[in-house]
Amino acid sequence: MPRVLVVDDEENLRLLLRTYLKRHGYVVEVADNGESALALVETFGPDFIVTDVRMPRMGGLDLLTTLKAKGIETTVIVMSAYGNVDLAIEAMKAGAYDYVQKPFKNEEVLLALRKAEERESLRRENRALRQEVLRDNVFEDMLSRGAAMREIFRTIDKVADYKTTALITGESGVGKELVARALHRRSNRREGPFVAVNCGAIPETLLESELFGHKQGAFTDATADRKGLFEQADRGTLFLDEIGELPLSLQVKLLRSLQDERIRRIGDNKDIQIDVRITAATHRDLGAEVKAGRFREDLYYRINVLHIHVPPLRERREDTTLLIDHFITRNNARLGTAIRGISPGARRLLVEYPWPGNVRELENTIERAMVLADGETLVEADLPERIHQARDPIRLQLASGELSVKKTTRVIEEMLIRRALGQTRGNRTKAAALLELSHRALLYKIKDYQIDL
Ligand SMILES: Nc1ncnc2c1ncn2[C@@H]1O[C@H](COP(=O)(O)OP(=O)(O)OP(=O)(O)O)[C@@H](O)[C@H]1O
Ligand SMILES: [Mg+2]
Repeated sequence: MPRVLVVDDEENLRLLLRTYLKRHGYVVEVADNGESALALVETFGPDFIVTDVRMPRMGGLDLLTTLKAKGIETTVIVMSAYGNVDLAIEAMKAGAYDYVQKPFKNEEVLLALRKAEERESLRRENRALRQEVLRDNVFEDMLSRGAAMREIFRTIDKVADYKTTALITGESGVGKELVARALHRRSNRREGPFVAVNCGAIPETLLESELFGHKQGAFTDATADRKGLFEQADRGTLFLDEIGELPLSLQVKLLRSLQDERIRRIGDNKDIQIDVRITAATHRDLGAEVKAGRFREDLYYRINVLHIHVPPLRERREDTTLLIDHFITRNNARLGTAIRGISPGARRLLVEYPWPGNVRELENTIERAMVLADGETLVEADLPERIHQARDPIRLQLASGELSVKKTTRVIEEMLIRRALGQTRGNRTKAAALLELSHRALLYKIKDYQIDL
């Protein structure tokens, strides 16, 4: 049975509603102001709160904001006297679900409650559905519903246990590191270490000692023996990120280590046996690097035994919308924001944007939008300029390859007119001045382009 907490400073009204709602199948508690209501929320755990707005001690509005601040999501219905409609509206803005005006017939309260219940069950259903969708589309830390990624997940499961070297390619931010981690976690090495090193981020002189370690006195700064990352990754996985940046001198040494499964610390005179699974990633086209003489062909073949290419986000738009919802939910938990969702328009913008920075860019864009958003729903205005610009008809026109000057000029002209009218809030005289068009010409073009004002 649903639980209702009735909050009002008028005793008669409390008793009346209690009797009435009990008769209609609710479990009811009452409180005479916001403060005592808050205390009851903890112990009674109501599904719904029906509260007056104006009360001595804590009023309905304060009650609402306090509940929200505490992260309590109980549905609130406010009651307000005829003169206090403004307060009721304010309460709705602050997150109340509905309001009934005093004096009311009992049925009105019942109706509001039933409506809220219906919404509640819809929400629950939605949540369950979303969880189901998630369960079906999750692989380790990766989400995807597209065929290409599914194929990658299958490959990972198939090859995880082999010591085969894997080369993961794809644009920046597509999830290469997540693939490498999944490969490790699905393997029989999962209890062993996963050691990642970014070959592009460490200066050449340090990288060798970083990877292979050194003996004390091997060079000026080598004050003690040091284990390299290869040794640290023993019985686990060594992830060589941005392997395309590895200097040629180290490529030789790496190749030898891979072939012999032994490494030698700098300054040492004996080898150390290692058991490491190597995965490597690059955003470069390694084949082309080989042709250009920047990457050793023999190492390339040694690494590229198993190739996993992660496609860019714009080639798997079905994932974009899944990831949008995932990031919103995750950020709410992580940042303490209370964004309920995203408007269809904003979602469309995000799905159509080409995402040169792929999933990482999407992740950052959503986080920023959530932090800056005014409302409970992300709308187009919450998205950064570049996402809007990508929709720019001029760019789309130019990208289409169309060569007709006339057609392209029309696109530009229409956009400028829309922009001017937007800036002047539809004032045609002012817009005409900005556009340096005669008033008459502008009226004609508005009609021609079918611009609604
Ligand atoms: N399928 C996915 N599901 C959920 N999160 C993802 C997915 N793909 C990538 N991410 C997230 O996007 C971000 C970038 O992923 P990752 O670091 O694996 O990309 P990368 O290809 O290694 O990027 P770079 O080339 O810049 O190193 C990470 O925060 C990661 O958690
Ligand atoms: Mg990476």
